[in-house]
Amino acid sequence: MIGRLNHVAIAVPDLAAASATYRTILGAKVSEPVPMPAHGVTTVFVTLPNTKVELLHPLGDASPIAGFLAKNPSGGIHHVCYEVEDILAARDALKAAGLRVLGDGQPKIGAHDKPVLFLHPKDLHGTLVELEQA
Ligand code: CO
Repeated sequence: MIGRLNHVAIAVPDLAAASATYRTILGAKVSEPVPMPAHGVTTVFVTLPNTKVELLHPLGDASPIAGFLAKNPSGGIHHVCYEVEDILAARDALKAAGLRVLGDGQPKIGAHDKPVLFLHPKDLHGTLVELEQA
């Protein structure tokens, strides 16, 4: 069912410092910060040959990653994103297998203008998983 690893998302307390680390020290291709008010984050995209890393920083008062950074003040891996061909079919199959879909269960338009869903980390061995329709 799952396909390519679309991205690994890392929540960071200092977006400029994290961008500089990836650009200058790790030598990666790093975007400018992209504010995403609908998702409560500012994102920097790090493009690698085989996947992406997304550096996330809270935006606004009700950011979904604020609590994560409060618990992980140095930052940390927040979620991984796998591609699926048909997000509704994937959702229905995973729900039938007992996995919990976060929110209202309806796909939302994600950072790449494609439908995404999140799955409960307790059902996936401690990792928040995002599914994106490729
Ligand atoms: Co993501």
